[in-house]
Amino acid sequence: MSDKPVILVTRKLPEAVEKRLGLDYDARLNPDDALYAKDELIERAKGAQGILPCHTEHFSADVIEQLPEEVKIIANFSVGYDHVDVEAAKKRGLVVTNTPDVLSDATAELTMMLMIGAARRASEGERLVRSREWKDWSPAFMVGTQVTGKRLGILGLGRVGQVVAKRARGFNMEIHYHDFQKLPPEVEEGAVFYENLEDMLPVCDFLSIHCNATPETTGLMNTERFALLPDGAIFVNAARGAIHDDDALIEALQSGKLGAAGIDAYNNEPNIDPRFAELPNTFLMPHIGSATAETRDAMGFRALDNLDAFFAGKEPGDRVA
Ligand code: DGY
Repeated sequence: MSDKPVILVTRKLPEAVEKRLGLDYDARLNPDDALYAKDELIERAKGAQGILPCHTEHFSADVIEQLPEEVKIIANFSVGYDHVDVEAAKKRGLVVTNTPDVLSDATAELTMMLMIGAARRASEGERLVRSREWKDWSPAFMVGTQVTGKRLGILGLGRVGQVVAKRARGFNMEIHYHDFQKLPPEVEEGAVFYENLEDMLPVCDFLSIHCNATPETTGLMNTERFALLPDGAIFVNAARGAIHDDDALIEALQSGKLGAAGIDAYNNEPNIDPRFAELPNTFLMPHIGSATAETRDAMGFRALDNLDAFFAGKEPGDRVA
């Protein structure tokens, strides 16, 4: 019998990550990439000292309570950890880690794609070409919104938000941000700080969400706050769906209050509100902000670094509980 720690890996990971896992751990892999329901997750965790899950597995207080006693660490393959009840984990003495930094570039890239795709009507254009319904060109054909030089409001100038600001400066965008506190000038790089979100919204030609999903930010973008944006503003969410209220967002898109939205993060993924797909002014991606080969490897290695530290009796670098 191996004396390596047993790790339950809930989803199929990149080959290089699974290879490294196998060197130091007795890894219970998921080669079919099946999605484990709650009871199966708990059952499969029996005898494991650690779990390496993704945001697709939900560790509610109820699940944490039922996890076998021998499970000591949840080393997430994600920067977001809203799928884990951190307070319940702390109460149980369960260590929880995430994978920050390594996905900021990929997520910022996708954010720029959402911003531009929504502004330039990418979904409509692509559909026209693919369906062979593209018949003509005229000056009035498929006119969108220019991104260059516009005002971008960033809700949460953290790791991803800062990279988005850098990339957006390449489009001469003027950066505004709201966060818990004003950041040092070398981080702001000229971005304008707003202590109150409500004060920033009226200057956002584009609004991009980059804060964590917490009880405080859930439903933050509601009817009242969408109403504060300039008419025709473009809304982008590559963070978590919980931060916008679906009804409020859909209503703002239907009424023309919002010109368009680029969305990669939804409530109730993957069974999202069907109205998003019916709207012509949405540019929709299936939660792939960090989905590049380089970033997937880096996320896996970062999760393994956290496991390695934990099993070496050290403090994992990315401990969140
Ligand atoms: C993250 O890392 O939080 C991404 O959303 C993928 O889970």
